[in-house]
Amino acid sequence: MDVQKFVEESREMIISKLHGKGILACSGGQDSTLLSMIAAPIKDIEIVFVDTGLLRLNEVERVKGLFEKFNVKYKLIDAKKIFLDNLKGVADPETKRKIIGKTFIDVFKEEAINFKATYLLQGTIAPDWIESGGASRDTIKSHHNVGGLPEDLGFQLIEPLRDLYKDEVREVSKYFGLPEVMPFPGPGLAIRIIGEVTEHRLEILKQATDILEKAVEDKYQGEKPWQYFCVLLPVKTTGVHGDQRTYGETIAIRMIDTLDGMTGTFSKPDWEILSDISANITDDVPEINRIVYDITDKPPATIEWE
Ligand code: XMP
Repeated sequence: MDVQKFVEESREMIISKLHGKGILACSGGQDSTLLSMIAAPIKDIEIVFVDTGLLRLNEVERVKGLFEKFNVKYKLIDAKKIFLDNLKGVADPETKRKIIGKTFIDVFKEEAINFKATYLLQGTIAPDWIESGGASRDTIKSHHNVGGLPEDLGFQLIEPLRDLYKDEVREVSKYFGLPEVMPFPGPGLAIRIIGEVTEHRLEILKQATDILEKAVEDKYQGEKPWQYFCVLLPVKTTGVHGDQRTYGETIAIRMIDTLDGMTGTFSKPDWEILSDISANITDDVPEINRIVYDITDKPPATIEWE
């Protein structure tokens, strides 16, 4: 791929489509951060980074640091409360995704009034719309920025990354000197909490995820998996701590090797590292007393559990 040409053509495409002002939707993930870098020099675009409360530990700080390092102007919107309120009592994965998609749009609409924007720039990439269904394709899952969008969007969409796959996103990100980051889904930790999302369950998952990520980064032998994360299951099981019975939460660890996220095989790390991760999580997060490892490829499973 001719990366420089892609960047130039993307900028030309944005300028030719933007007849007014636009809001660029940044979730802090790899795709929308890349789009921010591409669009940053173009006038009449406001980059909006939404803190959904569904991000990982210290993630807001990481994204802020990145934008500051690259001198990208952005606006941070604290939408933690509205996302949690809207997700209250919801357990069904597709409903969750649709609520998250709609909440993002509601937040952008409010900001659009301030900024007088009628366009929405999104970092949608090919797997997002392929898996969201349409035409003769089945809906595998409604990606928050495609199938999760409300019908009455109220914005004209501009999506310069639509034809890229994950490996190409990485190539273009490299061109900008962006650090390699592991893919992270727009709906965030909400789709890694099976069942209802609550503040307490989010906190448990944030702690476990942080321990897992640090262990892989510090200790993994050989090339790291493409994506690795924790999923909080809606299953409580019996355990023992000292000589006390516990009845605690279960975490599933998912590590996946893939080229572009479309198909993949589960990673086969050393038992040593899995054993360390398991001990660290159960030692440091008292609510958790059981860890299981996901040994399913994609297909038949998808990478995320929801
Ligand atoms: P799946 O679960 O579909 O995941 O096999 C493939 C890749 O896409 C990420 N993913 C998402 N990314 N919005 C996103 O921006 C979404 O709604 C979404 N769902 C899954 C997932 O983390 C994996 O890298």
